Amino acid sequence: ADLDLQEIHDFLISIAQEAGEMITAAYPTTSASGTKKNSADLVTETDRAVEKMVSTSLRQKYPHIAFMGEETYSPGDLLTSSPTFIVDPIDGTTNFVHRHPYVSISLGLAIALVPTIGIVYNPFTRTLYSGIRGRGAFRNRTTPLPLTTPPPPFEDLSSCLVAVEWGSDRSGNDYKVKSQTFTRLCAAKEEGGAMVHGLRSLGSAALNLCAVATGELDVYWEAGCWAWDVCAGWVILKETGGMIVDANPGNLEPRVDGRRYMAVRGGEGQKRIVEEFWGLVEGKFEVG
Ligand code: IPD
Repeated sequence: ADLDLQEIHDFLISIAQEAGEMITAAYPTTSASGTKKNSADLVTETDRAVEKMVSTSLRQKYPHIAFMGEETYSPGDLLTSSPTFIVDPIDGTTNFVHRHPYVSISLGLAIALVPTIGIVYNPFTRTLYSGIRGRGAFRNRTTPLPLTTPPPPFEDLSSCLVAVEWGSDRSGNDYKVKSQTFTRLCAAKEEGGAMVHGLRSLGSAALNLCAVATGELDVYWEAGCWAWDVCAGWVILKETGGMIVDANPGNLEPRVDGRRYMAVRGGEGQKRIVEEFWGLVEGKFEVG
């Protein structure tokens, strides 16, 4: 049967608000938080409790839609082309643990692997981003995105504000690709760099995508994050004319579970920014 996308969108917003109350009421302590693969990969009891609430509500209301969530994922679980909710109960767990307010809940729906509904909610700032594929994206339900229309044309990478993330993998090839590329992005042109206006590492992939959607960031580049970090923000970004391509040079059509992403805001010249950025990437990511 055809899915009622508007109804699902509205239901996801109500769940995001409920999750937001759980998140702001929780007081993360070290005893309630732990680590997953290493000491920089954090998880708290709140991540698990929120995912439980979200998955229970969604399974009850939409038993025929599959579910994939960060805290219940196990290696080998594959995203299929069936409609699937893709959920990160807390995106920005490290910020949450440190009580830094750049935290969100990310609720996405993919159909045939295409991100189709996206809800991203920051309960600390009470900012809601939402979108349905083909029907636009909004902040706090009423402000259409991007915030400036038409979005300003791009000059070159040097005039961009760029988000990157260090992620929790801190060794090996991929860490080297990241850190060397970060250096090059910032370095002066005479040193082979792009000398971007600034580099930000804010700690939530979902909110980074929303910031590219509003126009508050120009570019966001990361490899190593997961479908639940990006599915919802992807919809919102695309609805604003933004692009999502591979973090490795070459691929213009990455999969939502491809684990390598570069987002560029809407605006004349965005393809040039993609090419210029790809030209600076030092090496090649193996993840994905
Ligand atoms: C993480 C955040 C972070 C990104 C990581 C993600 P989590 O999600 O989005 O910004 O660098 O790759 O895993 O673990 O807080 O849900």
